[in-house]
Amino acid sequence: MKRLAVLASGSGSNLQAIIDAIKNKDLTDVEIAIVISNKKDAYALERANLNNIKSIFLNPKNFNSNEDFDKKIVGILKTQDVDLIVLAGYLKILTGTLINAFENKIINIHPALLPDFGGKGMYGKKVHEAVLKNNEKESGCSVHYVTLGIDEGPVICQKKVPILPDDTVDTLAARVLEEEHKLIVEGVKLALSCKVIACKDPTKYNISS
Ligand code: GRF
Repeated sequence: MKRLAVLASGSGSNLQAIIDAIKNKDLTDVEIAIVISNKKDAYALERANLNNIKSIFLNPKNFNSNEDFDKKIVGILKTQDVDLIVLAGYLKILTGTLINAFENKIINIHPALLPDFGGKGMYGKKVHEAVLKNNEKESGCSVHYVTLGIDEGPVICQKKVPILPDDTVDTLAARVLEEEHKLIVEGVKLALSCKVIACKDPTKYNISS
């Protein structure tokens, strides 16, 4: 049984997609060992509770540094014997303390077609604002391995979505999020199946529209 840790800071709809995939056996031999949030009011924690999944809120204010915060997470994940960490709307930048402790075992979902529209400050609606401002004809979402660079790790899989002439930030965000819920499950499958530290040829897993 492969054990996942999901880190989330918000509503947790991507977490819910993983929970549902396990329930409907789209994801087999996988369990969510723990959900961790840096936000006390993250609905992701409630989703975990509703599904009898261990969850913990870690208050960053209780730690002297981001490294100490991540050291605490490393300790929890080691005791939980976690095979893969999924960042599902986790808005805290990981330090090397956590990344190096789980090298190539951390994946993140990003609401754009990386490497475009990623990096520092590119999260949530800001991503879709930038995409629309750039008059892109399509957008999408990406699952990638987490490395020290923000949103720079090898891409595992991507899904494109069209941009419609009357799209707003909200309509585009909703269309992308709908695809994220499928892609995050695909990304978990691929990350767990990759025998090498990072899929040697992540492009071979790209899933175009
Ligand atoms: C998603 O758009 C994801 O791409 C980004 O944060 C959002 C999380 O949404 N990293 P949710 O909390 O999973 O609903």
